[in-house]
Amino acid sequence: MDVFDAINGRRSVREFKPDPIEEDDLRRILNAGRAAPSAGNCQPLELVVVKEQTVKRLLASAAYGQTFIAEAPVVVVVCANVVRTARRYGKRGEELYCIQDTAAATINMMLAAYALGYGTCWVGAFDEGDVARAIRAPAGIRPLAIVPLGRPAEKPAPPPRIPLEKIVHKNVFGQRA
Ligand SMILES: Cc1cc2nc3c(=O)[nH]c(=O)nc-3n(C[C@H](O)[C@H](O)[C@H](O)COP(=O)(O)O)c2cc1C
Repeated sequence: MDVFDAINGRRSVREFKPDPIEEDDLRRILNAGRAAPSAGNCQPLELVVVKEQTVKRLLASAAYGQTFIAEAPVVVVVCANVVRTARRYGKRGEELYCIQDTAAATINMMLAAYALGYGTCWVGAFDEGDVARAIRAPAGIRPLAIVPLGRPAEKPAPPPRIPLEKIVHKNVFGQRA
C-alpha cells in the first residue's frame, strides 16, 4: 500500500472482530514501531503485547471504562523506557524526547496495521498508574499509549480536519502561506 493511502485511509477503529491476529502480521506491526526514529537513536520504546483477557479488562478500566479495548484480540501498550533517553539527554530526554519517540513509533505501528488490513485506535485517556500496575511496569517505564488492534468491525467516516491554509504560516506566524 502506498504510504499516502495509509496515512489518509487510516481511521480510529473502536469495534473489532474477534479474529486472531496472524503472528507474522503482529511482528511486522511491532517492527514498524521499532523502525521509528528516536532522539539520538536512544530507542526508549518498550512494547507490552496483551492477549490475556484479564489484563485487557484491567486496561479498559484504567482507561476510564473504554470497553472496546478489551474487545480487541490484541492490545499493545506502548511504553517509554525513560532512563534510556534521560541517561543521554537529561531533563529534555525525560520530558520530551522519549514521549515524541514513542508517539512516532505508535503511528508507525498504526499505519502498518492499517496497511495489513487491521484497525487500531490510539488510546491516551487513562490513569497512568493503573496501566503501569496492570502491565506490571517496573520503575522508569512509562505507559504512554494503549493501542487495541484487530480486524475492524466498523468503517468510520473521516472526521473533519482544520484546512491546511489555517495551520500553515509563511516564514513566521501572522503571514499565511
Ligand atoms: C494522543 C491521542 C490520544 C487519544 N486518546 C483517545 C482515547 O482515549 N479514546 C479514543 O477513543 N480515542 C482516542 N484518540 C483517537 C482520536 O480521537 C482520533 O485520532 C481523532 O478523533 C481523529 O480520528 P482518526 O484517528 O480517525 O483520524 C486519541 C488520539 C491521540 C493522538
